[in-house]
Amino acid sequence: MPSDFKILPSILAADAGKIIEEARTVDIPEIEYLHIDVMDGHFVPNLTMGPQIVSSLKKHTRFKLDVHLMITNASEMIPVFVDAGADIITIHQEAVKHLDREINQIKDLGIKAGVSLNPATHSDSLRWIISDVDLILVMSVNPGFGGQKYIPAMSDKLAMVARMKQEYEANFILEVDGGIDIQTAFTAYRNGARYFVAGSAIFSHQNRIQAIHDIINSIEKQKSDGKTTFRV
Ligand code: DX5
Ligand code: ZN
Repeated sequence: MPSDFKILPSILAADAGKIIEEARTVDIPEIEYLHIDVMDGHFVPNLTMGPQIVSSLKKHTRFKLDVHLMITNASEMIPVFVDAGADIITIHQEAVKHLDREINQIKDLGIKAGVSLNPATHSDSLRWIISDVDLILVMSVNPGFGGQKYIPAMSDKLAMVARMKQEYEANFILEVDGGIDIQTAFTAYRNGARYFVAGSAIFSHQNRIQAIHDIINSIEKQKSDGKTTFRV
């Protein structure tokens, strides 16, 4: 059982025709959260799941739900996703007008609030919300689709955000999303990521439990090989 990191299967990569059964294929003690990608066809060029899927997953599985909103009208939709059963809602810095207000809107509704940055978005503005936010999500692909390749420069961004966390003695979780697999997970880990969203690296395999264990073991093995890691 991993002690200092979590894998969050991204349901986007599952078979949409049987989403509850798919979610149950990753029902092992190591998995606490499912990651749910909500896309609106405006902020990103794709349309995916809405609150109905969130409430179905809440009702029919035991997982906590990490809801990643890639939508422009987050403020209107936040209460809807909270009612549907989200445990974390992450909004995009690029998609909202009043980031601080919307972080507080999420927290006032009693759940965890995250902020996500696209690959080309600078991390500087995080300084002003760093003590309020529960999670920072560094996108390691351009949002919109599963199955893309991890952008190597995002390791530097993770390290930069991890350094800010130390500097400001902040408590947020550092999450990474996009192209995470047995090759890239440890690179993200050593640069400070502790929540790893993984879609195709899990759901494209017949044996999902083995695929999850392979990612966990790829991190644990390299940790025990003594490779330097960021202390967060
Ligand atoms: C991309 C989504 C990701 C996606 C990750 O916009 O935010 O959560 O599901 O998929 P993989 O792990 O296949 O890159
Ligand atoms: Zn996502």
